[in-house]
Amino acid sequence: MKNILDYETVALVDEDDAIEIIDQTLLPGRIEIIRLHTAKEIWDAIYLLQVRGAPAIGVTAGFGLYLLMKHSKAPSYDEFMQELGEKSDYLNSSRPTAVNLSWALKRMEEHVKSYVGDGSFDKDAVIKEMKEEASRIKAEDIDVCRRIGENGLTLIKDGDGLLTHCNAGQLATCKYGTATAPMYLAHEKGWNIKVYCDETRPLLQGARLTAFELFSAGIDTTLLCDNMSASLMKTGAINAIFVGCDRVAANGDAANKIGTSMVATVAKRYNVPFYVCAPTSTIDINTPTGDQIRIEQRKPEEVTEMWYSERMAPEGVKVYNPAFDVTDNELITGIVTEFGVLRAPYDKAIKELFEKKNQK
Ligand code: MRU
Repeated sequence: MKNILDYETVALVDEDDAIEIIDQTLLPGRIEIIRLHTAKEIWDAIYLLQVRGAPAIGVTAGFGLYLLMKHSKAPSYDEFMQELGEKSDYLNSSRPTAVNLSWALKRMEEHVKSYVGDGSFDKDAVIKEMKEEASRIKAEDIDVCRRIGENGLTLIKDGDGLLTHCNAGQLATCKYGTATAPMYLAHEKGWNIKVYCDETRPLLQGARLTAFELFSAGIDTTLLCDNMSASLMKTGAINAIFVGCDRVAANGDAANKIGTSMVATVAKRYNVPFYVCAPTSTIDINTPTGDQIRIEQRKPEEVTEMWYSERMAPEGVKVYNPAFDVTDNELITGIVTEFGVLRAPYDKAIKELFEKKNQK
């Protein structure tokens, strides 16, 4: 029987003008594959977290923009670019925090601009280029996650206990995940690691997704509520913490799922190394510090009603429901990228990394 890791998180079904995803809101109870055709369907799937996780959102946006322009009737380059800009802005408005969304859309737009740089406009050729660029974004995601896994593997050893928060796993990317990549590679090597997953209120990505995919892979997996990790760290059971991120600012402050900064703060107290796994596509050098990262606020019902058979809070009570928080760079032991592990001072390390990357 197929296991969850045998399914593709995001796939293009070009002959049906569709993106195919696993509807992650139904996991782990039901594995249902759905197809997204229209702009509204793609927008909703991102907003509702049917597809989620920064890299997977980026891949969906790339394929989405391609599909939405595939049958464009724009007669000229200018009109084509105007339409592309409008569709891109619409998709970009679905979720504000993960930079991979705007990064992928901008990359698609820039690619079209550079392709028709000589002023000629062959629509079929441009559309073909868009498909190839979106496919490259996906292929690169797989390669980058594998490399993050290899770099992360140098930070752990056989027998380690590892903690993670939310889902920065295969379901958030196209393979391996970011925070889970060192875990999958350690498991491939036959190492006996124990992974502890925070359940991650209010949307339970840790319980529903991370515990599901790691357990399906045969990794020793233990689930805990979000308020239990301090007691576990105090026992010495956790040798290292790996989390993903949605946007890393130029100074190394890292936005990730709400609760991450609490884990990092506790880790500092108990001297547990805290690593943020970040593809360079998630590092936003145009955002100076975490203070400028826009944090998505979500509906109160996710806290008061969702998952419960009856409401678990008084009617009318105020609810605080930010989807992400920012971990201050001084709490981060290392930022694991596809190019290596960055260490503080992060402003300098990030600047040097991008200088080297841009030279290539
Ligand atoms: O709201 P979500 O489920 O999209 O939040 C996901 C996270 O916070 C992940 O840790 C992050 O996107 C990194 S995924 C490799």
